[in-house]
Amino acid sequence: ENNSSTITTLPIPEILEDQNPDEKIAEYDLIAQKSTSVFVNDVETETYGYNGNYLGPVIKAKKGEEITVNIKNALGDEETTVHWHGLEVPGDVDGGPHQVIQPNESLQTTFTINQPAATLWYHPHPLHKTGKQVYKGLAGLLLIEDEVSDKLPIPKDYGRNDFPLVIQDRQLNQNGKLIYDLDMMDVMHGKHGDTPLVNGANDALLEVPKGKVRLRLLNGSNARTNRLHLKDELPFWQIGSDGGFLEKPVKLQELVLGASERAEVIVDFSSYKEGERIELFDQNVRLMTFVVGEELDKETEIPEQLTTIKTIKPEEATKSREFVLQGMGHMVNINGKQMDIHRIDEEVNLDETEIWEVSNPNGRMAMEHPFHVHGVQFQILERNGEEPPENERGWKDTVLLMPGENVKLIATFKHKGTFMYHCHILEHEDAGMMGQFQVD
Ligand code: C2O
Ligand code: CU
Repeated sequence: ENNSSTITTLPIPEILEDQNPDEKIAEYDLIAQKSTSVFVNDVETETYGYNGNYLGPVIKAKKGEEITVNIKNALGDEETTVHWHGLEVPGDVDGGPHQVIQPNESLQTTFTINQPAATLWYHPHPLHKTGKQVYKGLAGLLLIEDEVSDKLPIPKDYGRNDFPLVIQDRQLNQNGKLIYDLDMMDVMHGKHGDTPLVNGANDALLEVPKGKVRLRLLNGSNARTNRLHLKDELPFWQIGSDGGFLEKPVKLQELVLGASERAEVIVDFSSYKEGERIELFDQNVRLMTFVVGEELDKETEIPEQLTTIKTIKPEEATKSREFVLQGMGHMVNINGKQMDIHRIDEEVNLDETEIWEVSNPNGRMAMEHPFHVHGVQFQILERNGEEPPENERGWKDTVLLMPGENVKLIATFKHKGTFMYHCHILEHEDAGMMGQFQVD
């Protein structure tokens, strides 16, 4: 518990500087490294970070831009990879378990951004070791901007009225140390912790302008599903899902995000007085507190129409496949199979559209699983046989399935290569709840 006399200010990740002067080309340096952090009670503990001690910088990209990232593995004795979660790029630059960077080695990766404005993220993806590296702190945001986001009159002044919130939960031991070890519960349900962190800080304060504020939310937990709400059930508007803007803002009082899902929301603090505090909760746990400050010079809006999304029609699909999420503990699997890096589970034709039916059958020990597909943004056709809720009618790369649920997804596979689909509870993924598809 935080000492009441110490106030932590919410850290805002820095925007990574482009090393290339050319307008159309951007070049970034990322170093995965070991360091230490203090989360509670002045105790220093070992953490990992990109270019810092915990989490990583924000990479801001423009649609159409070519990006080169020079990644160095300075973790000492562990191999790693950097996966671009949500990015539509060829398999050889996806950063999955095939693109290993050995200790003390570097990898240069280049891709072109060709998808709408969105809040994506990057994190390690080494086979069977993703859980530990993310838990220790390796994760960062990748923000895409385009002509739509440029024109919208929404808050977009980074660090003033546009804030990223990376939500995680961690378990600190009796000595305040962050140790990645798994007990029986963690093996079953994934690693959960009783210390919530936002941008790496526990129970921090963020001063926000008295007005509209945009929050880019990432559930960066290894396993926990967030059920987010504000003090007094203050309503807010969801404007974006994993892969971009929704067509219309959706008014909510609670937002459920499975591990790795993102949402952009706008909160209007204008009815509060300066100095008032509004807490953000995950169920009954306080994650952080907003403190209302002065009004900003520029008024922003919550437009009625945000963008237009071309719906992919079921008739366009040339194939449909089924994915059954099942098993428990070390036995978690998809379609009865566990990950084998030498086996391709599904072969997909390039530029074709497919329907994927994913189900999480109810059973004695059934639990929720967030299902993620690499290399594409998909649309949800149906959730449990019905139209998806309004805030899922946009681009998605991860879909949360509660026990007994099934979803129908539709996607067009526009990039070649080997890609993963898996449960984003990282301990399930590491146990083998993952498969590979090849697009050719
Ligand atoms: Cu965010 Cu395969 O993962
Ligand atoms: Cu799972």
